[in-house]
Amino acid sequence: MTKRGRFITLEGGEGVGKSTNVSFVAECLEAQGLEVVRTREPGGTVRGEAIRALLLDPAPQEPLHVDAELLLMFAARAQHLAEKILPALARGAWVVCDRFTDATFAYQGGGRGIAKERIAVLEAFVQQGLAPDLTLLLDMPKEAATKRLESRLNDRQEQRDRFEKEQGDFFQAVREAYLARAAQAPERFAVIDAQHALVDVQAQIEQTLSARVTAWC
Ligand code: TMP
Repeated sequence: MTKRGRFITLEGGEGVGKSTNVSFVAECLEAQGLEVVRTREPGGTVRGEAIRALLLDPAPQEPLHVDAELLLMFAARAQHLAEKILPALARGAWVVCDRFTDATFAYQGGGRGIAKERIAVLEAFVQQGLAPDLTLLLDMPKEAATKRLESRLNDRQEQRDRFEKEQGDFFQAVREAYLARAAQAPERFAVIDAQHALVDVQAQIEQTLSARVTAWC
């Protein structure tokens, strides 16, 4: 029987360097000879990416209701699980996902103020017990993350998306909600101090991964 693959997620607020480190994690696992599926949320499938565009569109003319935002996150996730994540895990591939449901608890829960209990109902409905095996939470103080986000947007001449347009209090609440979730599930989370130079951050990630991969393989 094929051994089920492992599900690894990367989380953190805006500007903490997640995308670069998603690639790094995928490369570390591939170097161990593992099949890796790299993906992201919201998105990861054609329909999920269409939902992502709707969620990130900063168009101010029609505000998106917070419950509609929450349900769209889970709609994209249901498609992503059915079409990509579950089949990959079943064939023994490892899935490395840029954000998953911890982001919903942090952004829609902490940031938007939706009660965790309501989010947990949707989590149970959509995921039916599936949870990541390991979550790397890239953490840094809000001020440092905001600076990095601004310089990235300037360098790439990018416009802010609907979430990036939020203000400091929102990002502070997101960070606190992430840290609270990590404290509640320390066996699943590894909190990475992302304030340091990239090589140091990646050394922390590599150390966490090598301990887990050895234990799992
Ligand atoms: P990204 O910038 O990391 O690609 O993510 C897109 C945005 O979506 C980011 O600002 C966080 C937000 N988000 C939520 O608000 N809830 C969620 O469940 C997920 C997965 C992302």
